[in-house]
Amino acid sequence: MIERIEPLLKEIENVVISTSEELESYRLKYLSKKGIISQLFEEFKELPGDQKRDVGKPLNVLKSQAEGIYSAKKEELESSSSVGMEGVDVSLPVYLQQPGGYHPLKIVENRLIDIFYSLGFDLSDGPEIEDDWHNFGALNFSEDHPARDMQDTFFIGENVLRTHTSSVQIREMEKNSPPFRLIMPGRVYRNEAVSSRSNCFFHQIEGLYVDEGVTFADLKQTLYYFVQQFFGQGTEVRFRSSYFPFTEPSAEMDIWVGTDTEDNKRLTKGTGWLEVLGCGMVHPNVLESCNIDSKKFSGYAFGIGMDRITMLKYGINDIRDLFHNDLRLLRQFQGE
Ligand code: DAH
Repeated sequence: MIERIEPLLKEIENVVISTSEELESYRLKYLSKKGIISQLFEEFKELPGDQKRDVGKPLNVLKSQAEGIYSAKKEELESSSSVGMEGVDVSLPVYLQQPGGYHPLKIVENRLIDIFYSLGFDLSDGPEIEDDWHNFGALNFSEDHPARDMQDTFFIGENVLRTHTSSVQIREMEKNSPPFRLIMPGRVYRNEAVSSRSNCFFHQIEGLYVDEGVTFADLKQTLYYFVQQFFGQGTEVRFRSSYFPFTEPSAEMDIWVGTDTEDNKRLTKGTGWLEVLGCGMVHPNVLESCNIDSKKFSGYAFGIGMDRITMLKYGINDIRDLFHNDLRLLRQFQGE
């Protein structure tokens, strides 16, 4: 069915309509109840579920394009027959309005916001140009800590382009008092060797939950829930212990991608597991830096790599493809 949609799109884009009779036959042919597009929708109803997914989007694009052309041509004909149009060349081609769409990263961000909203998280954000204190100091990186090297970045005078969204945790905790239950999406920067897996800027969504009696079990269950919602029920995850100055204990979470295809092997360096986030229990020093009583309050935090999960979700093999703005890629997300 999909092979029939593409030529139809071309056909309607090239259609010539210069009289109201031609407009009416266009409507009958494509848009009426017995027209081609309605027939396609009838056939679509009969398709098995997995094919529906592939065909639904292009079919909707075809429909809205066909309707767009109809109204544009109709308006053109009506206005050309009205007074005051002398000297206007009505045969000039019209510029068709292409239906717009969200960038895949925005689609993923919106999805994550929905998932965490449903768990009671609020939304916040902070500046991309940060001072040393918010990006490092308050997060328990000492002046000469080697973890700073792993997050080498770009300096703007005294300030840095933030290396992670964890800085927004600090801004929030300095301003307000617990409980906090927040997600904080945004763009971050690192001085990286650019490759198919790493870029010098990328996106994270930070999570923070601070209250009395928050435990690692709460963290695990929340992340587990997010994965099942985002990637589907039954998606396997594993936690590996890790180190971040601002959490103790710290962990990284991987999800099972498998080793069945060459792409998956490359993506997971042959292990089948792909790291998607860092997390842990907020270090008492971080709470104290923000004047929060670490004897009374505890919390967890996490930072999800949004580009990674976008690549994984949509089978994009090179992180740079997310930033070329190539319409051949972006158009595939129209309507999502
Ligand atoms: N900021 C870390 C990074 O960019 C990710 C991270 C790890 C965020 C642990 C957290 C956390 O909030 O608790 O590599």
